[in-house]
Amino acid sequence: MTTATRAKNRAPGPKGAPLLGSLGPWKRNTAEFLLGLQRDYGEIVRMQLGPFTVHQVTEPEAVRRVLVENNGNYVRGPLYEQFRVVMGKGLLTTDGEFWRGHRRAVQPVFLKNAVADIIPNLVQATNEMLEGWERKAAAGEPVDLMTDMLKLTLVTLSRSLFAYDINPSTALLKTIVDDVVEVMFRRGVPSEMLPSWVPTERKRKITRIHRAFDRVVADVRRQYAQTGEGPLIGLMEQAADPETGRPWTAQQIKDELLTVYLAGHETTAVALCWTLLSVAHHPHVQEELDAEIATVLGGAPPDAATAESLTYTKMVVDESLRMHPPIWIFPRAAVEPDELGGYDVDAGDSILLSPLVSHHNPRHWDNPLAFDPYRFTPQAVKERPRMAYLPFGSGPRQCVGNFMALLELRVIVAMINQRFRLSRVPGDSLQYGSPVISLRPVKDVMVTVRARERGTAVPAARPAAHPAGSAAPLSCPHTGS
Ligand code: HEM
Repeated sequence: MTTATRAKNRAPGPKGAPLLGSLGPWKRNTAEFLLGLQRDYGEIVRMQLGPFTVHQVTEPEAVRRVLVENNGNYVRGPLYEQFRVVMGKGLLTTDGEFWRGHRRAVQPVFLKNAVADIIPNLVQATNEMLEGWERKAAAGEPVDLMTDMLKLTLVTLSRSLFAYDINPSTALLKTIVDDVVEVMFRRGVPSEMLPSWVPTERKRKITRIHRAFDRVVADVRRQYAQTGEGPLIGLMEQAADPETGRPWTAQQIKDELLTVYLAGHETTAVALCWTLLSVAHHPHVQEELDAEIATVLGGAPPDAATAESLTYTKMVVDESLRMHPPIWIFPRAAVEPDELGGYDVDAGDSILLSPLVSHHNPRHWDNPLAFDPYRFTPQAVKERPRMAYLPFGSGPRQCVGNFMALLELRVIVAMINQRFRLSRVPGDSLQYGSPVISLRPVKDVMVTVRARERGTAVPAARPAAHPAGSAAPLSCPHTGS
């Protein structure tokens, strides 16, 4: 019997309300709602979100089918189209030959061997930040961790890829990022139904964002024309359209530049924030990290060789990306009908991949709310289905910046722990914000920083037994505990 003649086999899922489907619980607490779907219905769940039929897919083989095996059938879809108001037609928002040509053009600077070149910039920018922390530690002032991480990743990205010293207190920071999130997601409100010439708050914000970005893009390009420096802007200026052979237009360069700035700095900053907080919250992890940093770095900043040897630090980062994946959901839309895990998917249906939900699937992660870096020993990784872990996505659309992000995380986490102890300001509760793009803490994260005395003795040996992770409040912010 063909799919056309047999009854469709629909995945289980919530019934939802008439017309709205499950929009109510989705809006109330999206993370909790999606985790509950996996718990109550399984690894392929069908739901209605207003007019959209959506399948949440966390079963590893089905995830592989969407992202790898049959990836040509699954395009970006309506959510990514919303990103276009800011990012235009860049790597994140396009498909097919256009995307392929652009990916090929920028890929060389993101290869594993190439990203090691960013280490000197990374070390310099981190040292600059830590000098400010020395002063704050001496004065007993707290540090706004998220803001500092956003600055650090923005400065590093800009210097490393564009040889451009961006002023982190202007243009792209916090308010702009918040505006970007808002204009990309606030559609369908009554003021947006007005004729296009009527000014609205959203349109004013879009204009403001573009004005700020236009200045940055113009500066980056002018500086490249003068100096010829900046590996990524160099590739973009020399790239040619594969069909016409013509150089990229100014608009294409702007869109890609903006995509990289936006996709590259906030995600890494969020990951840094969660990793540092997780370390501060788990003394046995802190101890083991200290021991590795002392042994491998011995007080010096990381370089290409030593950064590679920070294997426990890498496991800590991997575990943090499991527990708190910054890109916690991402969508696709089916072009043709398909079958996922035995269930039918119709053309036009949306697919929701959720690193957060996949990473908390008890079938692949024992005690998923516990923070335990030993889940990432080479042996443990080999024994798990690959698609149970996807902080950077997978397949041809896997994050182009994944090696860069992992290197940044390892180097910055090591340098901060080499010199400081962090602790959260008492009484400051930590929860996920309403996560739209990245899984950020709900509000500013204030930490006190304490400078470690140089030469402080640190325990050399790691605990003999595999330390059981602890499920502490930090481990479970999405459920609000
Ligand atoms: C911890 C940090 C990061 C995380 C968790 C992350 C996560 C992701 C994920 C999950 C995707 C795939 C989305 C999908 O398939 O729909 C993605 C794509 C992308 N990321 Fe990242 N990312 C990070 C850092 C970076 C950095 C440092 C850069 C660049 C400097 C970057 C640039 C991009 C771009 C351009 C894409 C689109 C790639 C394409 O479709 O060809 N990301 N990222």
